[in-house]
Amino acid sequence: MTERGAWWREGIFYQIYPRSFQDSDGDGVGDLTGIIHRLPYLLTLGVDAIWLSPIFTSPMADFGYDIADYTGIDPLFGTMADFDALVKAAHDGGLKVILDLVPNHTSDQHPWFQEARRARDDPRRDWYIWRDPAADGGPPNNWLSEFGGSAWQFDAATGQYYYHAFLAQQPDLNWRNPQVRAAIHNVMRFWLRKGVDGFRVDVIWHLIKDAEFRDNPANPDYHGGRPPHEQIISRYSADQPEVHEVITAMRAVMDEFDDRVLIGEIYLPLERLIAYYGKDLGGAHLPFNFALLSAPWHARDIEKIIADYEAALPHGAWPNWVLGNHDRPRLASRVGAEQARVAAMLLLTLRGTPTLYYGDEIGMHQVAISPEQVRDPFEKNVPGVGVGRDGCRTPMQWSALPQAGFTQATPWLPLADDFTHENVVNLTADRRSILNLTRALIRLRKAHRVLVTGSYRPVAAQGDLLLYRREGDGEMLTIALNLGDQPVSIATGGSGLDGEILLSTWLDRDGERVAGTLDLRGNEGVVIGRVM
Ligand code: NOJ
Ligand code: MG
Repeated sequence: MTERGAWWREGIFYQIYPRSFQDSDGDGVGDLTGIIHRLPYLLTLGVDAIWLSPIFTSPMADFGYDIADYTGIDPLFGTMADFDALVKAAHDGGLKVILDLVPNHTSDQHPWFQEARRARDDPRRDWYIWRDPAADGGPPNNWLSEFGGSAWQFDAATGQYYYHAFLAQQPDLNWRNPQVRAAIHNVMRFWLRKGVDGFRVDVIWHLIKDAEFRDNPANPDYHGGRPPHEQIISRYSADQPEVHEVITAMRAVMDEFDDRVLIGEIYLPLERLIAYYGKDLGGAHLPFNFALLSAPWHARDIEKIIADYEAALPHGAWPNWVLGNHDRPRLASRVGAEQARVAAMLLLTLRGTPTLYYGDEIGMHQVAISPEQVRDPFEKNVPGVGVGRDGCRTPMQWSALPQAGFTQATPWLPLADDFTHENVVNLTADRRSILNLTRALIRLRKAHRVLVTGSYRPVAAQGDLLLYRREGDGEMLTIALNLGDQPVSIATGGSGLDGEILLSTWLDRDGERVAGTLDLRGNEGVVIGRVM
């Protein structure tokens, strides 16, 4: 398949947080066999690829983002046979499988780090980032861990500090060392040979740090109530120019195999983000576009985000959009349950690959976590400023059965208290539910190729209205989204908006003619079809 029609351009991604999707062995934690049981659900939903957050051997200090063996499956999730069975079952159903690659850091329990910390002259030493103490014995510079405190951990046995951008149990690998690169490349090949269709690369913009370890500048905009690492700007600790050559080399490994995708996790302003497509698009196929995760939910702001992104994309680069993930508050709580439906229509009608976060399709909200229920190390280290990620990682709500059908045991995180109503079984039966809306949107995207391949054209609008067109291949669709809760009425005469409603977020207007005026209810979005 040529890149133009590649599956990762045409398809819809679905992120699974494996701990919370489906438990099969009664330990209260989701696992691979559980995911296999739920593949039929994903197939009826209509998504094309699943991305699994880490399933590798891990002491779980950061729930799998601290890896002790890159080519092992953690027993909590199952066995390698379970993994192979999952890939086979997914592929049999036509679903691609994307794994999480975490190359920036390992667990402190990884044998590489255990060896590295043995002695200053250990051959493994330079696989990590070691520095002498500052003159006063303190950390080598002012870099801060994203999870609180200094990013440097003193190792008394060898008298040096090691660097960790996240937890002290997650020492950063030294990507300036060619042996590290080769080792991770081999990890990639291991999974690619097993038939894995791609990777989402964790904190890819962190891989290279300043060669001189210069102090980061203070952030003049920092204010209390924000996580402490925001007191400095990570000018020297991340997004270094040399990172691009590291990514090019990763991409070359992907290109040894047919038809695989490299996705980069990147939280950077737009102008920095797009650099991750790489020179001549030889970097990440899809640098994750997180602009909507923190967007003020107003039509003009969103319109500008889309316009800026479309304008900034390098020639030939493929866009992508994300509304939620395992690190950010749930969409339905951010924008409200009603707007979550409008947001779903936005995500699935924009130009570019959409990534759905598990549970957003049933409108799962951020679950309140009491202090004694906190599991997230970020919240434990930096309590009280709202950084906790447990509330967006709660178990999938399958049914009204005990524990929502997620487990027979006590789930590792509490279930949302509304699960007896808000669950897959009920929402499937409810014709107008957000779940059936999501299914309808996915069907629409598949039935109208223009939603995948057509151009994006903004249409001028005021107030809470967001208007745009998708155009190409002899078809034109207009998308009209009301981001407010008041009705709006637009004169369509002469503006080319007339046509037929193909889908409303309320699922009750299919086939309605639009001629002269378009009336939208509060919190309603519609897709209007007009064959050119
Ligand atoms: C980004 C991941 O999405 C997050 O969950 C994790 O804690 C950090 N990277 C560290 O790996
Ligand atoms: Mg389990």
